[in-house]
Amino acid sequence: MRIVVLVSGTGSNLQAVIDAVDSGSLPLEIAAVGADRHHTLGVERSAAAGLETFVVNFKDYAQRSDWDAALLSAVAAHQPDYVVSSGFMRIVAPTFIDAFSGRYINTHPALLPAFPGAHGVRDALAYGVKVTGCTVHYADAGVDTGPIIAQTPVAVLPGDTEESLHERIKIAERELLLEVLGSLAGA
Ligand code: GAR
Repeated sequence: MRIVVLVSGTGSNLQAVIDAVDSGSLPLEIAAVGADRHHTLGVERSAAAGLETFVVNFKDYAQRSDWDAALLSAVAAHQPDYVVSSGFMRIVAPTFIDAFSGRYINTHPALLPAFPGAHGVRDALAYGVKVTGCTVHYADAGVDTGPIIAQTPVAVLPGDTEESLHERIKIAERELLLEVLGSLAGA
């Protein structure tokens, strides 16, 4: 099974996938890692691991549709079985969803459908929920929407900040992502 991982930020979930593949516990091939911006830790982690790495820099495209087309062709060039949005903070075009229908997976740091969007952890804290968590789901053209594959609850602790809660969620999120990818890879 070949995957392309898309990242926008620190890539800690990507690192967990890289480590699991390297240790032999996750039987898949990371065909490439792609990003929507330059100079992120995610891109650095990918390059450091010797993976094929590409950037389709959102800001380089005057037209949104040109960026959409460039992303689609950059990902498709690697012929992935699955594409994993791992902290990739862009909504992809319907053409992308069509091309990877049922094969585009996203992780989100909340129990969807609650608290979608770029600030799932902050929004859950602000609402005052006592339990939040993480979700791995098939992504569609919406914001963190699409059929849910798996979820893990994470308790909100007294005194939690967005950072402390997100760190605990990310621990659960990494485990969940590895489990889902393992099961898709038939492990
Ligand atoms: C993860 O918690 C992921 O769920 C979240 O960004 C973080 C990326 O962390 N994604 C979203 O909020 C998507 N709406 P990482 O770059 O360290 O893996």
